[in-house]
Amino acid sequence: MSAPSSAIESTLVENRVFPPSEAAVKAARISGMAAYEALCAEAAADYEGFWARLGREHLQWTKPFTQTLDESEAPFYHWYADGELNASANCLDRHIGTAVENKTAIIFEADDGSVTRVTYKELLGRVSRFANALKALGVVKGDRVLIYMPMTIEGVVAMQACARLGAIHSVVFGGFSAKAVHERVIDVGASVIITANAQLRGGKELPLKNIIDEALAMGNCDSVRNVLVYERTKTACNMVAGRDLTFSQAMEAQSDRCEPVAVGAEHPLFILYTSGSTGKPKGVQHSTAGYLMWAKVTMEWTFDIQPSDVFWCTADIGWITGHTYVTYGPLAAGATQIIFEGIPTYPNAGRFWQMIERHKCTVFYTAPTAIRSLIKAAEADPAVHPARSDLSSLRILGSVGEPINPEAWMWYYKNVGGERCPVIDTFWQTENGGHVITPLPGATPLVPGSCTLPLPGIMAAIVDETGNDIPNGSGGMLVIKRPWPSMIRTIWGDPERFKKSYFPDEMGGKTYLAGDGAVRSADRGYFRITGRIDDVLNVSGHRMGTMEIESALVAKTDLVAEAAVVGRPDDVTGEAICAFVVLKRSRPTGEEAKQIAKELRDWVAKEIGPIAKPKDIRFGDNLPKTRSGKIMRRLLRSIAKGEAITQDTSTLENPAILDQLAETN
Ligand code: PRX
Repeated sequence: MSAPSSAIESTLVENRVFPPSEAAVKAARISGMAAYEALCAEAAADYEGFWARLGREHLQWTKPFTQTLDESEAPFYHWYADGELNASANCLDRHIGTAVENKTAIIFEADDGSVTRVTYKELLGRVSRFANALKALGVVKGDRVLIYMPMTIEGVVAMQACARLGAIHSVVFGGFSAKAVHERVIDVGASVIITANAQLRGGKELPLKNIIDEALAMGNCDSVRNVLVYERTKTACNMVAGRDLTFSQAMEAQSDRCEPVAVGAEHPLFILYTSGSTGKPKGVQHSTAGYLMWAKVTMEWTFDIQPSDVFWCTADIGWITGHTYVTYGPLAAGATQIIFEGIPTYPNAGRFWQMIERHKCTVFYTAPTAIRSLIKAAEADPAVHPARSDLSSLRILGSVGEPINPEAWMWYYKNVGGERCPVIDTFWQTENGGHVITPLPGATPLVPGSCTLPLPGIMAAIVDETGNDIPNGSGGMLVIKRPWPSMIRTIWGDPERFKKSYFPDEMGGKTYLAGDGAVRSADRGYFRITGRIDDVLNVSGHRMGTMEIESALVAKTDLVAEAAVVGRPDDVTGEAICAFVVLKRSRPTGEEAKQIAKELRDWVAKEIGPIAKPKDIRFGDNLPKTRSGKIMRRLLRSIAKGEAITQDTSTLENPAILDQLAETN
């Protein structure tokens, strides 16, 4: 990277621009803005031809496709529909007999620091063996398999093994509660669950299998025939005879060869639940071919992945980032990647930097929340500052999951990247499958806090409520105007909700509505994401629906009469959850309020998971409502932020309530 063209420190108007160095442009696969523009022009001139080329070049087909895009059932789009392939074969078998065969696929660093490596050939053997174990349990193409695993090689093996059989995996993040697992088991109709006895995080052993037992004991889980348990530690766990098997039992007699099952391009590869603006999480369904093609292409474009790279995406496999940039993308691209079991602060907050040095990581991809918390830690204790580690192996830094504020961007750029590595701020969503708006390391001049420009072929725009374009410089709604191969196919079991959530009639029913606000800069047309426009919060890069948390709170029927949840800005987590609660008894104050707030937090952790615990809980005799009974959320948002109320409160039924709710406890 060359020096910024302007060193103005102000972050209100971002004037700093960091063009790629000449060497980076020269070395990169997409070399310079002209190369980027040429790809955009190719897509504009022949949209289907562009995607057909990528589909043919990046995937290995057992039956080639003849039709690229079928829009006849829009917005249920079909890509490469008459082609057939297998996702696992496209991640593993394709490398056998090439230089990649004996290359390290995964460097696994456990919580305690011990390191295990597997080559592509070994990984293929493990995936095949596990697929045979699933097969022996009767798992066939189209079955749903729920995965509730820690970050381990086995987590990736489990996902790949499902893909090998054409079984549809649904991974549930290990931090979700038994109740959340239960809901997903039922919604997806899982026949097998894959879990571990325990997970290791920060030096602690946390039981995992007991959560599955608890979930299954909640009833209506007759679809589940078997539970497979990976013995992460030696600690025994409850095993139900006839239903539960350990990994070793299941794999004992299995061969390490398993023929991949060819599936249609549109066959669902997985279902991943994410939060929406209404109560129930949505099962986002992705396809096999379109999804996998984009996972591989974005590894090559966004991260410019090269044979010698050591890639590290810190996301858990329970999130979309872990699906695309741990389980599928790096393997399809034949890269060496690091998988880390633990947490960034154990045994100290220098762990990420020490691991980059230890494994000579070259491309590092993490979330702004992690960066912000590590900035704080480094400021408090120089011993964990990135300067203490040799980070000279790094060449590209990535950011994902939430807006990265320019201060954090600059710190990351200077202290981790040594002012040498571009910070690639990738914007995308669970529904997108892979990156949609992002800089390219050997082309795009960077502006801190901006995800810059859409990838070639992604027709992103900013529009008003009726779908009309909004000029650069003014804010509006982020949309993608044409379908693209890695987009969500439907919401599992709820096609109507799919249409309603993403393809509003007011915009013609064919434009993908992202649910984020955005603005394009007047000078470069760069995108900056301004945050969700619906009732979805982003806490530490994790999506949470306000309604989901409200439902959890009011489900505590002995205590809670009413609840409203809003977000407020937070220095580390981006947004924090703030709940306003009316109890069925008189409003508590002082110690009692603290006690009840704790009880409610623990309750939400049990209902959804610890990530959904409200940071602030405020009690009122009532909530601010209009005379027609509508809760005035914008007032709650101001109160949560600690702002003075400047809005018109004349329509409020009960204005006195505002002072009460402003009290923190
Ligand atoms: O609000 C946007 C934010 O995260 C949301 C998507 O969350 P999820 O589906 O969990 O996927 C996260 C990882 C891909 C978006 O609607 N978001 C994600 N990346 C960025 C972002 N906001 C700003 N900048 C980003 N780079």
